[in-house]
Amino acid sequence: MTERLKLTNAVIKYSERVIIHDFSLSVNSGEMVFITGSNGSGKSTLIKTIAGLLPLSSGTLERTAKISYVPQLEEADRDFPARVNEIVLTGTQRRGKLLYSQEDKERAKHAMLELGIYELASRQLTTLSGGQLRRVFIARAICGLGDLLLLDEPCAGLDVQAHEILFAVLRKILDDGCAVLMVTHDESDINGIEGARVINIS
Ligand SMILES: Nc1ncnc2c1ncn2[C@@H]1O[C@H](COP(=O)(O)OP(=O)(O)OP(=O)(O)O)[C@@H](O)[C@H]1O
Ligand SMILES: [Mg+2]
Repeated sequence: MTERLKLTNAVIKYSERVIIHDFSLSVNSGEMVFITGSNGSGKSTLIKTIAGLLPLSSGTLERTAKISYVPQLEEADRDFPARVNEIVLTGTQRRGKLLYSQEDKERAKHAMLELGIYELASRQLTTLSGGQLRRVFIARAICGLGDLLLLDEPCAGLDVQAHEILFAVLRKILDDGCAVLMVTHDESDINGIEGARVINIS
């Protein structure tokens, strides 16, 4: 078992306001961890810090370099002028690679098929529903998947079928050794993965 994430005595602030006080977490390969807590308790702040988008005020963060992150939908720029297949394809990008290989394109296609959005491939993001847009961002994360997947409330707005598809994908990538950290408010998500850990931060 390989450790994919180790956060030790993390303190996270916005200006002088402390949001996360003293938080430690270790996640191994193939492990599923759910983060729960009330609105405003700091779940998104925590996951953004793990993704490397916010700094730690103190404490240490050690993690695999190969991370995929799906932000909370409210933070997605749905007016971005791009087509679904272009957005999904950007998920294959690592370290500023400029050109896409045929293999990248195949992986993007496979991810769209897996998430049931292949028929939306040439649609503009602006024309999608909330649940469709959510699936696009999940497909984007899946096709460039590394060792650690961070999902911030990915199930909000998903219908029953899309939810089942997502959980089938999660079970598969966990079996393949990816670690997954998911923010959720929903008890049925937590029951959807056997052996998952639940951490309440509020
Ligand atoms: N960019 C920011 N600048 C200052 N304060 C912020 C910023 N983003 C969030 N906050 C504050 O930090 C706290 C934690 O916010 P965060 O978004 O992490 O909560 P959350 O647990 O994800 O909530 P929700 O369940 O509503 O998504 C809140 O009080 C919020 O108002
Ligand atoms: Mg949040």
